[in-house]
Amino acid sequence: MNAIMRDPAQSVVYQIYIKSFCDSNGDGIGDLPGITSKLDYLAYLGVDYLWITPFFPSPQRDNGYDVADYCAVDPVYGTMADFDELVAEARSRGIGIMLDMVLCHTSDQHEWFQRALAGEERFRRYYILRDGHGSIGPGDPGEPPTNWQCAFGGSAWQWEPRLGKWYLHLHDVSQPDLDWTNPEVREEMAKVVSFWRERGVAGFRFDVINLISKPEVFEDDTEGLGRRMFSDGPHVHEYLKELVERSGIDGMMTVGELAATDLENCVRYTNPAEHELGQVFSFHHLKVDYAGGDKWALAEPDIARLREIFASWQEGMQAGGGHNALFWCNHDQPRAITRFGGRGQVGKPGGSWDHVGKMLAVCTHLMQGVPYVFEGEELGQTNAGFASIDDVRDVESLNNYRILVEKGASEDEALEVIRERSRDNGRTPMQWTAGPAAGFTTGEPWIGVPENHELINVEAEQGRAGSMLEFYRGLIQMRHTLDVVSRGRVGFVEACESAPRAIVYERWLEGDAAAAARAAGQPVRLLVACSFDAEPCRVKPVRADGGVVALDGAEVLVDTYADDAVRVGEDSLELRPHEAVVLSLA
Ligand code: GLC
Ligand code: CA
Repeated sequence: MNAIMRDPAQSVVYQIYIKSFCDSNGDGIGDLPGITSKLDYLAYLGVDYLWITPFFPSPQRDNGYDVADYCAVDPVYGTMADFDELVAEARSRGIGIMLDMVLCHTSDQHEWFQRALAGEERFRRYYILRDGHGSIGPGDPGEPPTNWQCAFGGSAWQWEPRLGKWYLHLHDVSQPDLDWTNPEVREEMAKVVSFWRERGVAGFRFDVINLISKPEVFEDDTEGLGRRMFSDGPHVHEYLKELVERSGIDGMMTVGELAATDLENCVRYTNPAEHELGQVFSFHHLKVDYAGGDKWALAEPDIARLREIFASWQEGMQAGGGHNALFWCNHDQPRAITRFGGRGQVGKPGGSWDHVGKMLAVCTHLMQGVPYVFEGEELGQTNAGFASIDDVRDVESLNNYRILVEKGASEDEALEVIRERSRDNGRTPMQWTAGPAAGFTTGEPWIGVPENHELINVEAEQGRAGSMLEFYRGLIQMRHTLDVVSRGRVGFVEACESAPRAIVYERWLEGDAAAAARAAGQPVRLLVACSFDAEPCRVKPVRADGGVVALDGAEVLVDTYADDAVRVGEDSLELRPHEAVVLSLA
């Protein structure tokens, strides 16, 4: 079955946030038949795999990342028959389905947690239960066992009288963490993954998978909120290898979502010799606009830092034989086009919105790794512009709004932060048409639709030369067809002092691969130059060894301005505001 899927190295993955993609029955919530009805669109776009966010039975406290049953379909999203149909219909178009496995925690409504609450010893051992700090005996909670904070704000521990213990929840209080030191838990999880593999899925995304191994000793984090105590824990590689082996998914399309990780661990997660994961999502590049590292404190993006992060992760993963997932957007992030400056002339071809969106796309799609496109990104969807906290649905945003106000921010100040940072910016409906609810539903959408859907939508962009959608389609095509893009080496170059906000790198083929590409009339060496500057700049690329990159004879393969007016000199290149250029070097 996998044989018909494209090699991951040449593939592009499309992420579907099921709740917001397409609603087939008018209840305002996207669903599986909705996805099936849009497969022709996805095939037109050219993507090879679809990662679908969780559609398993769930109380939806964290929109499905709180799983109550791993091997069933929540009725709100459809039936198992709908799922099978989606898999078959996708496969017939050469598209593989990837499922989202949330194996670090369950919902508190999961049968295991319910049975733990009822006192069954076997299931108490599935979770991480501890006595309180300073507790004087059974029934006395004392204080939380450690000072660790959960990802959505507040303590990571909850006192539960029915357990007579505190339980650990690194996310919402309704998401108790599983105890992976328990072999039964590891066995259950391997069975879950096997279940879906046998049902015909082509790959998996593993949610916060580097948080499954907790430290041997639970103690206070004296430097921070606890993250460094439980990320990439002592047995994480061992547990992953075991999971991959037992569930029979080695070599399938897999990607791990990794919280607060580092390069060394990511090389291990993704070097094929380790038999762990295909690629990893790391998030360092999406924190360059956190003031002092705090997500809830606004700052302008630091482009010098962004460049450093891309350079060290691209070159570092290459050196270690690891593989990056390439992305700007997902359901946990505000829309990159707004974040990096697409605030002007929204939806208009030729405006800064158009330039920023295309430049961002070039920046990641030409890198080494597997590009991920998040629904609506290919249209240039923007942040939602929430006017009131009542328009926000996400548990993380609502918690942090409250925390900001408690810390003394006015309601307007808190709303301003939420407006920029809320995960709901990525969760507004896919914009299919200029019509009511953007064509997402015939009913009342579960979350509001941005007004700009009148300009930014599939109907307006599909088949229109120069649209964001057609531009993405071209980049996806390049990865399918050009070896230098899918397999080339990568090296970052200095852009020079007059272009402090440019990110510039080379891709190239060597040896036989270079000869084969040359014989096929394909480019062998590319220079990719992306300007994050709202002013023009001049790039004079210099390699790490001091060598100047010769540009004479270079051919323009991609220019986001698309007007044949790129100015390339012998050793320098002029970039207009937010312009990106891909040159094939002689
Ligand atoms: C991941 C998911 C996010 C979810 C969290 C807890 O980060 O992407 O949406 O809230 O894990 O499962
Ligand atoms: Ca529906």
